[in-house]
Amino acid sequence: MGARFIGWGIAVPDRVVTNDELSLTLDTSDEWIVERTGIHERRIGGTAMSLGVIAGRNALEDAGVEAKDIDFLVFATTTPDRITPATAPMVANELGLKCAAMDVNAACSGFMYAVRTAYGLLETGNKRVLVIGSENLSRWVDWSDRNMAVLLADGAGATVLEYDPTENDLLSFSLGADGADADLLTCEHGGYFQMDGAAVFRRAVRVVVDSAEKALAMAGITADDLSLVIPHQANIRIIQAACQRLNIEMDRAVVVLDHYGNTSSASIPLAFDDARKNDRVHKGDYALLTGFGAGMTWASAVVRWSQ
Ligand code: ACO
Repeated sequence: MGARFIGWGIAVPDRVVTNDELSLTLDTSDEWIVERTGIHERRIGGTAMSLGVIAGRNALEDAGVEAKDIDFLVFATTTPDRITPATAPMVANELGLKCAAMDVNAACSGFMYAVRTAYGLLETGNKRVLVIGSENLSRWVDWSDRNMAVLLADGAGATVLEYDPTENDLLSFSLGADGADADLLTCEHGGYFQMDGAAVFRRAVRVVVDSAEKALAMAGITADDLSLVIPHQANIRIIQAACQRLNIEMDRAVVVLDHYGNTSSASIPLAFDDARKNDRVHKGDYALLTGFGAGMTWASAVVRWSQ
């Protein structure tokens, strides 16, 4: 059984919000935000559906396939437009897909949970699955709360995964969830995101390292073999701490949080897009894709690019 990534696409809102702009209304500063998070600016606007549609359309075009070629849409979002219906059927409708469509909510691990789900769908007879991670986190941010307002942002990314009997991009997965830590990062109905940042930070580093080591071992490679690490983009210090423990130099990590902030389930495809545009993705190279988020959930995968 093989599954190949055959196309990618992204969407980000036009509106750029800089740290200096946030500092006008919050007791914070560009210096604090950059030093503690690595974020310089973020994009705000759109909805999970509107951004997801654009990213999905771009991925279909990049893959050279049409709506009728897609057998399933797996839509990762923490911020669906409505509680019900799910956002996926509406996105499918906009894209002209005539297939099953469902949401997956695994917070910032959402994109990797969706890729894992897509892999299983390809194993059981589907030919092509569209995976979209799309977030409208700004809608659920209390803009007077400096703890969250400086971190979260909006955006979307998508990929088309295709069944291939001879080639396989996805060599291993290691996913997990621990609801004992559910209260560390929450957004209640009608409320706003709230987080114990320091506790999330410590657990994030631990679960990224642990799941990455498991995925590497399952793939039969070591961290030295990796050309790229494409991590969830929450905080540059989390990425640095995880890479240090895995003995991976930072020049192998893709970092886009400086200009996109934390876009939850959109962050990994946004980072992939940046890596590809900067000619960092090459056929035959190994990459580690790894995410963590509220739940807590986590998910790592080892990839070898077939194109
Ligand atoms: N500007 C200025 N000061 C601030 C700000 C701000 N924006 N936010 C907090 N502070 C203050 C705090 O009040 C605190 O002040 P005190 O010492 O007087 O109490 C001080 O800065 C230090 O606060 P800490 O929380 O200790 O700062 P820390 O270095 O831990 O950084 C941060 C905070 C950035 C939130 C960090 O803990 C972090 O990134 N945590 C992980 C977040 C994350 O990864 N979330 C992922 C999942 S998101 C999802 O699933 C949707």
